[in-house]
Amino acid sequence: MTNGTLYLPDTPDGIARAAQALRAGELVAFATETVYGLGADATNATAVAGIFAAKGRPRFNPLICHFSSASAAFAHGVADRRARILAEAFWPGPLTLVLPRHPGSPIASLAAAGLSSLAVRVPSHPIAQALLAAVDRPVAAPSANRSGRISPTRSEHVRAELDGRIAAVLQSGPSIVGLESTVLDLTGPARLLRPGAISRAAIESHIGPLSDDPGADGGGQILRGPGLLASHYAPTLPMRLDARSVAPHEALLGFGPALPAAALIYNLSERGDLLEAAAHLFDYLRRLDDEASRQALTAIAVSPIPDHDIGLAINDRLARAAAPR
Ligand code: TXA
Ligand code: MG
Repeated sequence: MTNGTLYLPDTPDGIARAAQALRAGELVAFATETVYGLGADATNATAVAGIFAAKGRPRFNPLICHFSSASAAFAHGVADRRARILAEAFWPGPLTLVLPRHPGSPIASLAAAGLSSLAVRVPSHPIAQALLAAVDRPVAAPSANRSGRISPTRSEHVRAELDGRIAAVLQSGPSIVGLESTVLDLTGPARLLRPGAISRAAIESHIGPLSDDPGADGGGQILRGPGLLASHYAPTLPMRLDARSVAPHEALLGFGPALPAAALIYNLSERGDLLEAAAHLFDYLRRLDDEASRQALTAIAVSPIPDHDIGLAINDRLARAAAPR
């Protein structure tokens, strides 16, 4: 699809070249505060089709469209009072809103996998902001990994996943949050589709209780996050969660100051800080997966992670990583 992937610095010139490539219908990976995204001009159906091809992503799994401002986002997704309150509270930032799609929106229907809804987000990362402003079009961007693999939080991860398959990578430092955005469905009663750094409690403090109804749309289509398959974010080695001890054949993904002994240990946060753990999670999973295999270890044990605040989102990702496939 592309001869060589260009690695651009996140300087004004690099950003301008990345924006130009996106406007020309090419695929460009860029940093956001959550994870690196693989961007394409969302109004260009061929470019959007390129995302599905580069990732090997099933076409029933819709993409999030990124904008530099809430007003730009709401030109494509219809905002009600709840959406405006949440945008005011959390944008720019790691929250995605699923809204009814504006009938006049030029976004390619493939971007939303043919659904009548549209997922929109305004990222806070300064480079993502500058890029989106320069592109001045909606940018569809899933995480910049091959489908079913761990989301990239560093530009080296993107290289490992997509080198030679995309036009360019805009290279910035590591993503600060480290977990994909919270996804909230507002096409009916507000429902959490994917937990993230913006917690359910934080959302409820602004718009009241969320629904626990798993939900289906009028056409009977299951809307509980079409992409939220049970097995996802998968390392190649099997994982064992809530491990308080480590077997000789296991490496350890630890959390906290007192860990059991193991031949190979990555500690998400020695001081037991959940935000720090989230920022390290995908990077350490990748490293463990590589290094454990090289040391002839055949599984990854994971310390218990407290199930509150962003710990809920960490445990959601770990459960997917550990799901049978
Ligand atoms: O943090 C993030 O959200 C990152 C960065 C790059 O912004 N993006 C990301 O995209 O995680 P992706 O494609 O890996 O995950 C998007 C999730 C999927 O679970 C998808 O099914 C859901 O959002 N989604 C997208 N559009 C939807 C829609 N119209 N209705 C319901 N779920 C939707
Ligand atoms: Mg993804």
